[in-house]
Amino acid sequence: MEEKYLAAKQKLERYHQEHLLNYFDKLSEEEKIELLDDILTIDFNQMEELYELTKKEESFKNSKIEPIAYVEKAKLSKEERQKYTQIGEDIIRAGKYAVVTMAGGQGTRLGHDGPKGTFDIGLKSHKSIFEILCDKMKEARDTYHVDIPWYIMTSEENNEDTIHFFEDHQYFGYPKECVSFFVQGKLPMIDPEGKVLLTEKGTVKQAADGHGGVFESMRRNGIIYDMLSRGVEWTFIGLVDNVLAKLVDPILIGLTIDRKVLASGTSIVKRDPTERVGVYCKRDGKPGVVEYTEITKEMSEARDENGELYFGEANMLCNLFSIKVLDDIANNKLPYHKAFKKAKYIDSKGNLIVPEKPNAYKFETFLFDAFESLDDMAILRVKREEEFAPVKNAEGSDSPETARKLYEDYYHLN
Ligand code: UD1
Repeated sequence: MEEKYLAAKQKLERYHQEHLLNYFDKLSEEEKIELLDDILTIDFNQMEELYELTKKEESFKNSKIEPIAYVEKAKLSKEERQKYTQIGEDIIRAGKYAVVTMAGGQGTRLGHDGPKGTFDIGLKSHKSIFEILCDKMKEARDTYHVDIPWYIMTSEENNEDTIHFFEDHQYFGYPKECVSFFVQGKLPMIDPEGKVLLTEKGTVKQAADGHGGVFESMRRNGIIYDMLSRGVEWTFIGLVDNVLAKLVDPILIGLTIDRKVLASGTSIVKRDPTERVGVYCKRDGKPGVVEYTEITKEMSEARDENGELYFGEANMLCNLFSIKVLDDIANNKLPYHKAFKKAKYIDSKGNLIVPEKPNAYKFETFLFDAFESLDDMAILRVKREEEFAPVKNAEGSDSPETARKLYEDYYHLN
């Protein structure tokens, strides 16, 4: 321990982060080891680069942004529909398909204390989001007579709670051996002066590093290897918070394979210029997404000759990838995006600070930034009322109330 302490101290001195050892003596033995391990593994050069990022405006203005081509599911001819369905069903039945659900987030915006997937949206059945998603896996199992592997990405913050939830509910009747959990990466949070924050316990304050880390976490945790050993060729990666997400859609698989591309995604028509969704685009000729936080007013309001939004294909974060590209993507460094958040911490005098306004930066990579390493991808425009019922906010739009209504209407539960 003493050696480790000295190594940690030296490292901190080099990066002017000595305050991280201020409360060392007050920690339990276990916490001391955790803190020293954290300090010794944190890449402080990277933290310095990320600090520089906090001083810059994020901008895509030097890129050429154009709308992306899409195929509309409702307008497929009978022959196309049959062809895609056939191709997709063959893949699923042959056990070449897997599903990944990204559930690293907490239900904070919903006012829920726990993993977002454990939230009850208020259906009469009181099913949690996880159970609603599991129903779709069970439905596919019954239809195709195959156990589709289901991988759930958690974060360090919610991994244990998530696993307990599945255990307590007997995996909602899905075969336990087909469900795996893996933990996504994390990064320290820093204050506006670039100092790494300490938690209430006196350990390093870290936050999930964004869903762009899914590829690297899959590789690090042996998930890509597990998929390969099970013979998986296509992987669907989706968000936990859409209760109408089609986790197993043969048409999406068939279209992707027929188009000879290695990735695809579904889109819905953006409701209006202010809707908080990213939009698919071509960025310097490569597929991409312009996020709602970065789109300009002019771009979001532009319309084509039919009056449709020029950038109107909303990103649902429902994507399909060929296993062939997962490893390559995991090798790519994705750009970090900063977010200024409220974060409790211990100050230099040992006081617990509970901020009322944002005080700290967290850094995330986004899954869709990985699209730019692909030459092309297929976009399947689907109907909002059939496939998109997000649960994001406690009230108003994209809330449990709106998601519940969409879900009940779709399944004719009233
Ligand atoms: C997201 C998309 C947006 C899209 C919309 C559709 C981003 C940055 N933007 O917006 O383009 O139109 O969904 O609903 O994602 N998550 C993790 N680990 C993390 C961060 C997030 O698993 O480190 C999961 C969370 O569980 C959450 C989801 O990703 O369910 C969405 O993340 P969030 O940052 O809330 O993005 P949105 O504002 O919902």
